[in-house]
Amino acid sequence: MTIHAEPRIQRPAPAAAGIPFAITDSAKVPAGRYFSPEFARLEKEKLWTHVWQMACRLDEIPRPGDFVEYQINDQSIIVVRQRDDTVKAYFNACRHRATALGVGTGSFHGGQIVCPYHGWRWNLDGSNSYVYAERGFAARCLEPESLRLADCQVGELFGLVWINMDLTAPPLLEAMAGIAEALAPIGFERMQVRWWRHLILPGNWKVAQEAFMEAYHVMQAHPSLAMGASDEDFNLDAFGGSFECFDGGHSHMLPVSGEIPVAGMSAADYFVQYNNALYFGTDAYATEREMFIQQGLLERDIDPEQFPLAFFGALYEYAKGAGIDLPAPPTNTSGYAHIFPNITVLPAYGNSIMYRVRPNGDDPESCVFEVWALQIPAAGEEKTDRPELEGPIPVEDWPQILKEDFHNIIAQQKGLKTQGLDELTLSEPYEAMIVNSHRTIDQYLAR
Ligand code: FES
Ligand SMILES: [Fe+2]
Repeated sequence: MTIHAEPRIQRPAPAAAGIPFAITDSAKVPAGRYFSPEFARLEKEKLWTHVWQMACRLDEIPRPGDFVEYQINDQSIIVVRQRDDTVKAYFNACRHRATALGVGTGSFHGGQIVCPYHGWRWNLDGSNSYVYAERGFAARCLEPESLRLADCQVGELFGLVWINMDLTAPPLLEAMAGIAEALAPIGFERMQVRWWRHLILPGNWKVAQEAFMEAYHVMQAHPSLAMGASDEDFNLDAFGGSFECFDGGHSHMLPVSGEIPVAGMSAADYFVQYNNALYFGTDAYATEREMFIQQGLLERDIDPEQFPLAFFGALYEYAKGAGIDLPAPPTNTSGYAHIFPNITVLPAYGNSIMYRVRPNGDDPESCVFEVWALQIPAAGEEKTDRPELEGPIPVEDWPQILKEDFHNIIAQQKGLKTQGLDELTLSEPYEAMIVNSHRTIDQYLAR
């Protein structure tokens, strides 16, 4: 017997466009993209410092002087609400000896950003207002431009503040072409935070977010949502395959058909069980509001096939009475969406889950994973407090469906590093959003 034991060539670094682990086949993703320090270093140098990214929500900085520190890799940026209600963003470094000016979240009182080291000061607009004993500094060091805080580009969209460290990058709305229009009907800018939690996951930032960029995993990973659906039940319309991918790396799933994806279930049973699973399993994607309306309908005699329609009718009626500014029907404009590079949203009925995933410092194998539960409030219930980040929350303490996803992220990162494989296999129809995102990453890395 001959044992064919030709050694595998482990993790080749293809030289396509000079990028290691480049995507050369849209059905394959080289594993090294998820753990190679070299790849993470390239992302740091060529992606994160040039791409628009969400720095905070506008409601985190409601008043002039409020700031949030945004961190990505080893970069720190402060986002500051201005006196005229606009927002500016600066690299978080004093022009004297680089001390960070704001940590975490807070307010610059009296409209002054004050360095804690030697007391230099800036107005909220980044212009310098005071240098202690300035006579000791050379005139060229006291030029307004030498003293001014270093700006980042800043923009607002979906009730969020976006920054770009690259002053030559195209403006936000150009970078968001396609996805801005696709998500406009959702009404994100009217939503407020029900809760905002995070955890540190032992997985590459892309591994973590890709767990939320396809519905193909629902059958195995989420029994409460799959409800015993079979292979034949998995049709492209119901669970994925109708994606719209944009040049900027953004993508979204188009509205799903009204077909019930589980053979033999009535529309009412499927709808109710799905909502229940989402309510108990996420505490975000369906909320008490929807459960209340659903319960009311269950107590009435409604044709099971008409139940979803009756639900939306009742929801809009309720919203009208409660002063909830729901988006105009249809509510299912996007099933879920990815805003490149690291935001994923799952909108439904005037509420949404939103995820943001960032590398954890320079570690290619862990990430900071945040979840927001968002909802359009009823009239008079608008919050004025700044939302507060909870956590880190241990994996076991998250709602069931999120826990299921987190376990898979951890298991996937473990498998990625085994010597047994060099690349992952993707389905172009089911996992189109993932492929599109990787291709866009490579475009950044090739610059
Ligand atoms: S380092 Fe900021 S004033 Fe000296
Ligand atoms: Fe999931």
